[in-house]
Amino acid sequence: MHQIAIFASGNGSNAQRIAEYFQNRDTARVALILSNNPGAFVLKRADLLGIPAKVFNREMFYSSEQVLEWLKEKNVDFIALAGFLWLVPAYLIKAYPKKIVNIHPALLPKYGGAGMYGDAVHKAVLAAGESESGITIHYVNEFYDQGPIIFQAKCPVKKEDTPDTLAQRVHQLEYQYYPVIIEKILTGEIT
Ligand code: GRF
Repeated sequence: MHQIAIFASGNGSNAQRIAEYFQNRDTARVALILSNNPGAFVLKRADLLGIPAKVFNREMFYSSEQVLEWLKEKNVDFIALAGFLWLVPAYLIKAYPKKIVNIHPALLPKYGGAGMYGDAVHKAVLAAGESESGITIHYVNEFYDQGPIIFQAKCPVKKEDTPDTLAQRVHQLEYQYYPVIIEKILTGEIT
């Protein structure tokens, strides 16, 4: 049974979706939820789900290996970022080669990079007059949104869309695919 850790900075609806998906599977469990934000709603979700959670600050993350210790304590062998806003440090990427994935709410390589998260992404997609958007699941390297792409799914952008309505459509794709793609990576069906 694989042990997954989820890193999230905010709301955590994807984190919850992944945790619930694996509650009924024998491939994996979400063993730990981690956040850089002590006020993040994802911590409340972790509590309600009965999943242990840890909070860290910048110094702990970048100048110590405390986070790696927590991951080892829980035998974590796979990491999913879900709305996590900090760059992953080199020591973690080295400890989990091809075992850290992220989801981005647009079709990379467009609309990615530093500052491209949340509403900023959807606003940029609308401002560019795109007719489709979607999700990208990719491996994580030391740069924002630049690791090898694993999976993409598309949805239409409608003329009357606001950042909010587009975000909702993209979120539905995230809930539909992120847990399933994680499972396929864990079982080796996707490499
Ligand atoms: C998602 O849209 C994800 O693609 C992006 O951040 C958002 C997180 O939403 N990386 P939530 O915290 O899972 O609700």
